[in-house]
Amino acid sequence: MKTQIHYNESIPLEKHMQEKVFIFDTTLRDGEQSPGATMNTAEKVRIATQLEKLGVDIIEAGFPAASEGDFEAVVQVAKKISHSEVAALCRASVSDIDRAWKAVCHAAKPRIHTFLATSDIHIKYKLNMTREEVVKSAIDAVKFARTFTKNVEFSAEDGSRTDPDFLCEVFGAVIKAGATTVNLPDTVGYAIPEEFGNLVRYVMENTPNINKAILSVHCHNDLGLATANTLAAIKAGARQAEVTINGIGERAGNTSLEEIVMAIHTRPTYAPVTTGIQTNHIYSISRLVSMISGILVQPNKAVVGANAFAHEAGIHQDGVLKNPMTYEIMKPESIGLHTSKMVMGKHSGKHALLKHLKSMGYNLSDEELKIVFKKFKALADKKKIVMDEDLEALVTQEVLRTSDIYRLNYLQVTSGTTVLPMATVKLAINGKEVVGTGSGNGPIDAAFNAVAKLTRTKAQMQRFTISALTGGTDAQGEVTVRLKEDDLISLGKGADPDIITASAYAYVNGLNRIEYLKSNPATTIEGL
Ligand code: KIV
Ligand code: ZN
Repeated sequence: MKTQIHYNESIPLEKHMQEKVFIFDTTLRDGEQSPGATMNTAEKVRIATQLEKLGVDIIEAGFPAASEGDFEAVVQVAKKISHSEVAALCRASVSDIDRAWKAVCHAAKPRIHTFLATSDIHIKYKLNMTREEVVKSAIDAVKFARTFTKNVEFSAEDGSRTDPDFLCEVFGAVIKAGATTVNLPDTVGYAIPEEFGNLVRYVMENTPNINKAILSVHCHNDLGLATANTLAAIKAGARQAEVTINGIGERAGNTSLEEIVMAIHTRPTYAPVTTGIQTNHIYSISRLVSMISGILVQPNKAVVGANAFAHEAGIHQDGVLKNPMTYEIMKPESIGLHTSKMVMGKHSGKHALLKHLKSMGYNLSDEELKIVFKKFKALADKKKIVMDEDLEALVTQEVLRTSDIYRLNYLQVTSGTTVLPMATVKLAINGKEVVGTGSGNGPIDAAFNAVAKLTRTKAQMQRFTISALTGGTDAQGEVTVRLKEDDLISLGKGADPDIITASAYAYVNGLNRIEYLKSNPATTIEGL
C-alpha cells in the first residue's frame, strides 16, 4: 500500500483524536550529567523558570541524595515553580526517597521519581540481587514514596535490555503499589526505533493495569537514535517523553526536547498526539542552556543549530524566496527565531532595556538591572548595535553567577611583534581585590598565567574554543574553555568584544565552576 506523506501543517487537527504527550524535562538532572556541565543553584532556577514558561509539564530538578548542591537546587526550584510539576530523582532506598521528599516537598506539584535497574546484567553484576528481590525493592520504594505524595514515578533502569515479561511484571507490581507513571529507559542508548516501538506496544498490552499509569520513555543517544526511538515509542502508546534542551546529557546525551516537540508539531498526522509546549520559546531556552552549561550547540544541530534554517545552495535560496515551503519544513518564527534581532543602541534607556529583557524572559531586580545597564552602556559604546545574543551573554555573565568566588575586575595586556606579552589582572577573590601580572607566549596565555598565579589553581586547560557571537567585525567573541583538576571537569564561558577579555572571563568562569564542584562533591551514583 502506498503511504501518504503530508507535506504541510494545514491538515485539520480536529480530524484526529489528540492525546497529550507529557513533556518531562531532565536538563537539570540528566543534562547536568554531561561532562563539565555543572550548574549552580541560581543558574538552575533560571533555567527552570524558562522551562515553565516553555510549557514543560514536569521539570526534573535534580538528585537530592547526590550532593548538597543538588539538594539545595531542588529546594529552590521547587519553591520557585508553580505551574509545572517538579520531580526529584532517588534510588529505590528509604534514605534516598526521604532526602528527595525533603527537597521537593516545597513544590506546588511535587513528584518523587524512584528508579531501580531491571535488566539481568545490572541485577547480577551491579546490584547483586535476584529478580524477586528487585520486584520487592521496587514495590517497597513506591509504597514508601506514596506515604509522601500521590505523584510517584518508577523507572526500570536499563529497561530496553530487560526481559520484556519481567519488565511487565515489575511495572504491574509498582502500579499496584501506587506508581502513577512508569518509565522505560533506554539507559545505554542501545535500542533501535522499530524494536523499541514494539517493546512499548508489548508493555502496553501485557502490563497489568497499565491504564492506571502513564507509560513514559527516556532515551539516550549513543547510536544517534534517541529522538527516533522516542517517536516510535509515542506512536506505540507512550504518553510521557523524557527529554533535555539541546539533547545534553550523560555520554552522547538524551532525547532533545526541541526535536521531539517540533517533530510532533511538524508532522501532526504521525501520531494522534499534541504537547503543551509553546514552541516560540524554544530558541531562547536553547541559547540559555548553552550559555549556562557551557556546552555549545553544534551548527548542524536539528531545530536549534546555527545552520538549521540557513540555505546555502543557490537553488534552495531561490526556492525559499519564491515559497519558503519549498525547502523549509518549519518556520524559523515557530521556534522564536526572528531574522531581525536588532535590539538596542547606545541611546536606549534603562526602561527600554528593562522592557526588552523582560520580553526575553529576564525579570531582573533593580540591583541586577543597574549592573546590566552599566555593562550594556559600555558594550553599546564599543558596538553600535546590541543584539539579543549580546544581552543574553551579558546577563549570564554579570548577574546569573551570584555565588562566584573569583571575579575579573580589570585586565590589561601588552603584546606585539617585538614585546614579550604581559598581562596585569585585578581579581576579586571572595570579595577582596588582588592584583597580579603574568607573561606568556601570547596575550591570552599571559592573561591566563596571571589569573592562574592569583588563584593558585592546579587546573589544566584541556580545550579552548572561540567563535563570534553574532555577525559583523564588531561582534563579541564567545570563548569556551574546558578545565580539568584531578577528576573534576568544568566548562567556562565568556563573551566580550575583546577576545582576550572574553578568554579571561571564560577562564575565571571555569575556575569558579571547579570551586563549585569542590564544595559540592557528588555521591558516586552507581549506574547513572
Ligand atoms: O538513563 C536512565 O536510565 C536514567 C534513569 C534514572 C531514568 O537516567
Ligand atoms: Zn538517563
